[in-house]
Amino acid sequence: MNIGILTSGGDCPGLNAVIRGAVRKGIRQYGYSFSAIRDGWRGLLEDDIHPLHMVDVRGIGARGGTILGTSRTHPYSGGGPEKMREVMAARGIDAVIAIGGEGTLAGASRLADDEGLPVVGVPKTIDNDLDNTDYTFGFDTAQEIATEAIDRLRTTAESHHRCMVLEVMGRNVGWIALQSGMAGGAHAILIPEFPVGYEQICDWVRSAWDRGRAPLVVVAEGFVPEGLDDQVSDAGLDKHGRVRLGGIGNHLAPIIEERTGLETRAVTLGHLQRGGSPTAYDRVLATRLGMAAVDLCHDADWGQMASLTGTDIIRVPMAEAVDRLKFVPQHRWDEVQVLLG
Ligand code: F6P
Repeated sequence: MNIGILTSGGDCPGLNAVIRGAVRKGIRQYGYSFSAIRDGWRGLLEDDIHPLHMVDVRGIGARGGTILGTSRTHPYSGGGPEKMREVMAARGIDAVIAIGGEGTLAGASRLADDEGLPVVGVPKTIDNDLDNTDYTFGFDTAQEIATEAIDRLRTTAESHHRCMVLEVMGRNVGWIALQSGMAGGAHAILIPEFPVGYEQICDWVRSAWDRGRAPLVVVAEGFVPEGLDDQVSDAGLDKHGRVRLGGIGNHLAPIIEERTGLETRAVTLGHLQRGGSPTAYDRVLATRLGMAAVDLCHDADWGQMASLTGTDIIRVPMAEAVDRLKFVPQHRWDEVQVLLG
């Protein structure tokens, strides 16, 4: 069997560990061969495909990014499934492992379930918003980087007697903000699932200040404060309802400063959360998922993805994983509130 591997959507620490795990297991256990599909679905649609040997994956498990390159090309663009079928036949590719987030897996599940293409999935996202898997690799690295940022912001905030606002990634869900905020001891944690208003945010900031602390606010990029309409017009929001023009952190900082009288600075962590070396946890999870994806191909279990349940790697239908996002649940929000302020 020849297995094509692609990485699609935003990159994520651990992608290379998946590729390495899949290639090593596939060659050693089953004697399969592998093909590198460049830049996600684009490579499959444009026949940008190259042999992927054991030597190509040597030492890549600790490296960030993806050796295959990535793109946000839609699988139904540029000839779609028919073109892919043609390219796969010409290249002798018998199966495709698609490593990606919600958009990629939704596409992969349609290709397998509706078009009958031999495609399996591996879930990835630093946002941890995919359902049907307990954690996605990349998330642990991102929460670690965000926590380190909070620790670093604390010492400069304390020295200058300032409030610091840290904006982290999380388009639709607040997992990175929640976890790093808890780990770093933030005084306010703001996530899209549980909007609060400006007064609540300022109360948390004041309460920290009154206890002699330099207030630290962690906000997920997708957070929209209650009462936002009074502060910016609808034109100030992007299509996801996010604050445009510099992001939510930069929006909140001057408002906090004005209402509390505390000098306030905002920092946007951005793509630093996605770059660099994965944590040990992410490397192990990614490697195990890559190996499990090869078993899916071996069993011709198309339309399935490898997934983490507890400490076990199991197989679940991709269609179910992309059905809805995994939001921060009410009990996690209730739990954290006692720590704020
Ligand atoms: O989904 C992962 C993610 O990192 C989001 O948290 C973020 O909103 C988005 O990707 C950023 O995408 P891009 O790199 O295309 O700006």
